[in-house]
Amino acid sequence: MNEPRIRFENAAKSYGSLTVLDNPETACNEKVMNEPMVRFENVTKRYGALTVLDELNLDIARNEKVCIIGPSGSGKTTVLRMLMTLEQIQGGVIWVDGEPLTHMQKNGHLVPASDRHLRRVRSKIGMVFQHFNLFPHMTALQNCMEAPVSVLGLPKKQAEERAAELLDMVGLSDKRNHFPIQLSGGQKQRVAIARALAMRPKVMLFDEVTSALDPELIGEVLNVIRKLGAEHDLTMLMVTHQMGFAKEFSDRVCFFYGGKIVEQGPPDQLLGNPQNERTRQFLSAVLEAR
Ligand SMILES: Nc1ncnc2c1ncn2[C@@H]1O[C@H](COP(=O)(O)OP(=O)(O)OP(=O)(O)O)[C@@H](O)[C@H]1O
Ligand SMILES: [Mg+2]
Repeated sequence: MNEPRIRFENAAKSYGSLTVLDNPETACNEKVMNEPMVRFENVTKRYGALTVLDELNLDIARNEKVCIIGPSGSGKTTVLRMLMTLEQIQGGVIWVDGEPLTHMQKNGHLVPASDRHLRRVRSKIGMVFQHFNLFPHMTALQNCMEAPVSVLGLPKKQAEERAAELLDMVGLSDKRNHFPIQLSGGQKQRVAIARALAMRPKVMLFDEVTSALDPELIGEVLNVIRKLGAEHDLTMLMVTHQMGFAKEFSDRVCFFYGGKIVEQGPPDQLLGNPQNERTRQFLSAVLEAR
């Protein structure tokens, strides 16, 4: 399970014979653990007259692995971009780790968040994009050091150690001094995963991270994601067209259509026995396209 933000461990406080606190950790830690890691509360996103997401409500538990599927234009990328604060929302509130992302508490009210607040809450989230988006003029190692040094203020030596460790974890120790142009698509994507992890996020977002890859390179990236899921406390939200991977990896699959979650459930149920006609149509189209 994830580390709670505050932990009382066997804390006790007595005044003489009066016990004021007697092991309050259970109730307190449970409250933190039961809070969702990410919550979309009535979130609406519009581009001009086009409503892309319509009062979206979605809770993602700590450590939960959620896959998002749906046709092109259904708002999947928009959901991730809103969490990265790359998009402004027109209604509702997004919560991350119990704090409002797009708003902050002021005198008991929620007001639009300041840049400082946004940066702090956003630092809990890492994102990996379809087209890698690595810095082309930096080596793999430098790519992974950049944000920890410039955003977190980590000393260079420490950032370098962290970057080297993560490149090792994704199986690329021998490529640390290579520039993106010298790497294969699968290797670039593994550097992008290491780079996102270098900020020690609690939530990782993946947007079709294998769809720009040649088929033989897809497996190496999915293996890294599998390993992350198995060995680290991370909440993961993944847009994917890899139904096999979604089935094996996720705790829940959400089917988006027209800016809404039309159906969601455990992967066996949603992918194996969809109840909604739209979901059925989408899944059979995906299977036919293979
Ligand atoms: N910057 C923008 N300005 C205007 N419309 C946009 C913008 N970005 C996205 N849209 C529109 O919002 C809708 C949802 O886009 P989004 O990228 O979230 O879809 P998606 O589900 O990720 O699709 P795909 O599977 O093709 O990646 C689309 O109709 C798209 O045209
Ligand atoms: Mg998309």
